[in-house]
Amino acid sequence: MRILLCLLALAGFLNCTKKEPGVPYPEGYKKWSLLKSALITKGEPLFEPFGGIHHIYGNSDAVAAIEAGKPAPEGAVLVFDLYEAVSSDSGDAEGAHKFVAVMIKDTEQFKSTGGWGYDAFKGDTRERFVKNAATECFACHQSQERNDFVFTTAQK
Ligand code: HEC
Repeated sequence: MRILLCLLALAGFLNCTKKEPGVPYPEGYKKWSLLKSALITKGEPLFEPFGGIHHIYGNSDAVAAIEAGKPAPEGAVLVFDLYEAVSSDSGDAEGAHKFVAVMIKDTEQFKSTGGWGYDAFKGDTRERFVKNAATECFACHQSQERNDFVFTTAQK
């Protein structure tokens, strides 16, 4: 009996620690380090599809790598969090939440896109909308190959 219980516990444990495939939603990212914020206005090259106010966050592994100018280790996560910009007399403020775009380093799973998995979630939801990460995301991030496919660099 005891052996059976142990086996069941072990099977459960293995199952729990097994990684889900794909890019998980970055729960709690707003409490991570903020690497950068920027505003993209109409007429600027990236207005479609990135117009608005965005913030870039990293988990501790991603931030340490960026600060050291090194390629990110396995498990590093970066988030591009985009809001509409709403103009008023007192300046541009955040409007509706457009999306949460995510990159996660997992070289084994995402070999074909430079070792990073890419996905994006609508607004505050967990609804994914990237159909083809290679063409919708990696095609552009590939230009940053010398910087581990990451645009953001350490702030001076
Ligand atoms: C047309 C080019 C382009 C495409 C397509 C693109 N990105 Fe980016 N991405 C950028 C740029 C430029 C930045 C840096 C913005 C800044 O510095 O403020 C960036 C930044 C990011 C970051 C923060 C880390 C970094 O590289 O600085 C994440 C995460 C990200 N993008 C995810 C995605 C995902 C997921 C997709 C696909 C849905 C995607 N990107 C598609 C150009 C692109």
